[in-house]
Amino acid sequence: MRIAVLASGNGSNFEVIAQAVKDKEIPAELVLLFSDHHDAYVLERGKKFGVSCESFELKEFSDKKSYEAALLALLKKYDVELVVLAGYMRIIGKDLLAEFPNRIVNIHPALLPNFPGLHGIKDAFEAGVKETGVTIHYVDIGVDTGPIIAQGKVQVSENDSLSDLETKIHQVEHQLYPQVLADIVKEANSKL
Ligand code: GRF
Repeated sequence: MRIAVLASGNGSNFEVIAQAVKDKEIPAELVLLFSDHHDAYVLERGKKFGVSCESFELKEFSDKKSYEAALLALLKKYDVELVVLAGYMRIIGKDLLAEFPNRIVNIHPALLPNFPGLHGIKDAFEAGVKETGVTIHYVDIGVDTGPIIAQGKVQVSENDSLSDLETKIHQVEHQLYPQVLADIVKEANSKL
């Protein structure tokens, strides 16, 4: 199975996925890393792993539709079969979704349906919950609403700062995302 990762920033999740592919824990090919920011640190990580890296920015296009058309053309050029969002800070449009039904996966740093949107960790922290976590889900037309594949829980201690909670969440993400992707790929391979 040919995988593309889409990421906008730091790329710690990309890194653990790339490592799991390299170690053959995820029996797939990581054929493309795309970022919507030319200067995203994730691209440095991509080069280190020898993954094909591409980037372009929304502002280089006349509108969102043509940006997405270019992204779709890129995914087709690389024959991508599974799109993995890892800190990709954009909503996937309907044309792209239609081309990849149940083939776009996202990770969100909260226990959906609680705390969707851009600030899942901070929103949960400020709400004072005792438990939050991580959700991996298929992407649909809504924001963080698609079918849930797996969740990992994180307990919030009384002494935790926001930064402590971020660290705990990322630890769970880095364990859960490669595992879930391995399961998805193995399941798809078994149907071939
Ligand atoms: C992660 O917390 C992920 O859940 C969210 O964006 C963050 C990306 O972190 N969607 P990184 O770029 O993988 O380090």
